[in-house]
Amino acid sequence: MSTREDVLAALRRAGTTGLSGEALAHALGISRVAVGKHVSALRTAGYQIDAEPGVGYRLRAVPDGPLPAEIAPLLREASWMELTGGGPTGSTNDDARALAVAGAREGTVALASHQTAGRGRLGRAWDSPEGGAYFSVVLRPPLAPADLAPLALVIGLGVAKGLSAHLGVETAVKWPNDVRLNDGKLAGVLLEMTAESDRVEWVVAGVGLNVRRPMGGIPTRDAAWLDDALPGIGIAVAVAAALDGIAEAYAEWLSSGFGPMRAAYEARSSLIGQAVAVRTVAGDVRTAGTVMGIDDEGRLLVVTLGGIEAVAAGEVTLREDAGLAG
Ligand code: BTN
Repeated sequence: MSTREDVLAALRRAGTTGLSGEALAHALGISRVAVGKHVSALRTAGYQIDAEPGVGYRLRAVPDGPLPAEIAPLLREASWMELTGGGPTGSTNDDARALAVAGAREGTVALASHQTAGRGRLGRAWDSPEGGAYFSVVLRPPLAPADLAPLALVIGLGVAKGLSAHLGVETAVKWPNDVRLNDGKLAGVLLEMTAESDRVEWVVAGVGLNVRRPMGGIPTRDAAWLDDALPGIGIAVAVAAALDGIAEAYAEWLSSGFGPMRAAYEARSSLIGQAVAVRTVAGDVRTAGTVMGIDDEGRLLVVTLGGIEAVAAGEVTLREDAGLAG
């Protein structure tokens, strides 16, 4: 824990009783001036801390955001995680990439309250207003690049399982990288990596999670917000649940591969039994048929007129147009 987090933890413990600057300084072995600076930085980060003569500092309210100091105490898989950021940024995938290049260990997480240059799959922008959670985890799987194919599914499944296990909200997964709530997209996963021919150096797994509907924002088609299922859910609570789910799913994948996780993925899949079209980045339909499952490599199995096709990549849409029947 940083000294700032120690100051916050001490204020939390003191509760409504409050704590004098002198007592804080003494307990943490720092000067009163240093205490004042930490308190002022915490206020800037959105913590409401009153200072009253005769009482000292009192923590009145904590900000609702993806702040490391709020998430860390909630994590069950805490030893795996090192949390950074939490304010506005360009893209947490860029932040995590910079940390990975500088040698950050596996489990380092870059967090943001909003992004000005959020990226989605297929070169799209990812709208990242306040009220959402944006985070990217540095992974260093001891694998060859070819073995990474199911990783986006593993991360998506991890988010879904984490929300279910820790918050009791049931979500679906949509191949390859979406988490869905009711009829809308709740979260998306973006993987970026660097590898040599036979060894992955690092992977950044970025997750954008819609928590609260943006105030006065333009209604987004096909989106869902966690707050609709869990009114008042704290952003830090949501992120902790998702991170714990990711840590558990990633550990399971590393130890046993995707095969044993397949049934859990299929059970949550919104696509099984659905008539779909799979499109290329350019938008051309490359496969059309009915989804029957996922294979051990994480490919989508589609029953077409020509037989079963295992699709490794693409954008899936439900086939409203019967003319595409495959
Ligand atoms: C998708 O297209 O569905 C994937 C969206 C991934 C968005 C997340 S938000 C955190 C991280 N930083 C980014 O710039 N993108 C990912």
